[in-house]
Amino acid sequence: MALKLSSQLPLSLQKSHKGSQRWPMPHPIPPPNLAGCGCSLLPSGVTSLSRRSGGRGVVHAVKEEETLPPALAEADASKTPSSSSTKLVLVVGGTGGVGQLIVASLLSRNIKSRLLLRDPSKAISLFGIQDENIIEVHKGDTRNPSDLDSTIFEGVTHVICCTGTTAFPSKRWNGDNTPERIDWEGIRNLVLALPPTIERLVLVSSVGVTKYNELPWSIMNLFGVLKFKKMGEDFVRSSGLPFTIIRAGRLTDGPYTSYDLNTLLKATAGKRRAVVISQGDKLVGEVSRLVVAEACIQALDIECTKGQIYEINSIEGDGPGSDPEKWKELFKAAEAN
Ligand SMILES: NC(=O)c1ccc[n+]([C@@H]2O[C@H](COP(=O)([O-])OP(=O)(O)OC[C@H]3O[C@@H](n4cnc5c(N)ncnc54)[C@H](OP(=O)(O)O)[C@@H]3O)[C@@H](O)[C@H]2O)c1
Repeated sequence: MALKLSSQLPLSLQKSHKGSQRWPMPHPIPPPNLAGCGCSLLPSGVTSLSRRSGGRGVVHAVKEEETLPPALAEADASKTPSSSSTKLVLVVGGTGGVGQLIVASLLSRNIKSRLLLRDPSKAISLFGIQDENIIEVHKGDTRNPSDLDSTIFEGVTHVICCTGTTAFPSKRWNGDNTPERIDWEGIRNLVLALPPTIERLVLVSSVGVTKYNELPWSIMNLFGVLKFKKMGEDFVRSSGLPFTIIRAGRLTDGPYTSYDLNTLLKATAGKRRAVVISQGDKLVGEVSRLVVAEACIQALDIECTKGQIYEINSIEGDGPGSDPEKWKELFKAAEAN
């Protein structure tokens, strides 16, 4: 059986869709200019992958078209950590802009993932029919502790959480799905439910969380998003779990929410492939969602990132791709500064 859904999968397979989502970073960060950053969002043209032998089929499908982007192209077997066969990564928020790139990238590396989603049908529309040994989907809302049943975490070795919503009121807040409920309560619930055996919890947060009372950050924090993200971060830090927090700058590229897996694998960060990593909430700028996704995956295995908090931006230039050594250097350099 393919793509195991733990419960109540709606029969209709609808495309993931949401209104335009922006993270209004205060001045002096310029508005995103996707055309200018050379980001390639190729027209999908191809529907979801048919049943294949898991991630290997995915990689092969893309290589045939010779369009694999730097970030994903380098995710080949020679650079995949040796532990990948035993790894089971729980991705929370795997249908979001960053999350779907993480899941696609894990697939291309043949690393098993388990998704915790409010709407499991989105997984099929985004990732197609996949071998259940490669992707498993569980239905759950992080706001509800009762949804975070221990069975969801059985066998999970690593966790990446990239849940979130808009900073300002939008239809995505419907049903009280607000920053307070997701970025604070949801993170707290998740942390409390995680088994102590996990090897790493990577949390995607935001630059500016330590400065939410100061202009210009206080503008973005009008509805509390930075404050609640900081509360979520603090809960993670005091949990005793081995964590890494990745604070993203303003996100560019994507969120690719109307595309399928083939298109996700073709997404590129254009010319903005160079990565800037810092610590101390000093960084202000933009970052490609592809770069954030790669940073999260790399952090799972790089020992020195344990217990650390980083800010991340991407700028024009050549980047580390998915080379673990280059990422290690970047993370280490951030700690040294
Ligand atoms: N946008 C920016 O410029 C920016 C800047 C800095 C940091 N960030 C942060 O970076 C992270 C990733 O951003 P993104 O744009 O990739 O996020 P996104 O597209 O908004 O995706 C958010 C994900 O969270 C899930 N989610 C929302 N509420 C949930 C709940 N109650 N329970 C379980 N899952 C839930 C969503 O699933 P559904 O499909 O169920 O809604 C979706 O998969 C977020 O934490 C965001 O706040 C964003």
